[in-house]
Amino acid sequence: MIVCSCNVLSDHAVRGCLSGPDCPRTPAQVYRCLGCSPQCGRCAVTIRKILRGAEAASADAGACASPCPACPQARIADALDAALEDALAEPMAHPPRIVAAA
Ligand code: FES
Repeated sequence: MIVCSCNVLSDHAVRGCLSGPDCPRTPAQVYRCLGCSPQCGRCAVTIRKILRGAEAASADAGACASPCPACPQARIADALDAALEDALAEPMAHPPRIVAAA
């Protein structure tokens, strides 16, 4: 189905560019990825829906095939990494005691 009549872009073409480390996350990035630019802009809402659908499908799958910085999965992983680093950087208030077995 044609989603952008000005640039003759199909939904298949839009979905096709939504993979890889530099996958687009905004309609403007989709236009650039497909080598064109917005003309009237009426298709931006549809392209945004395709983007959000792909993000939701990726999140439902539990992991990205190729995570990128804008990916929700990558943001969660970065937040967990930062929290872990913070926790490891603080000295333990009550370090565990090692008790020899009798
Ligand atoms: S329909 Fe896509 S820019 Fe006009």
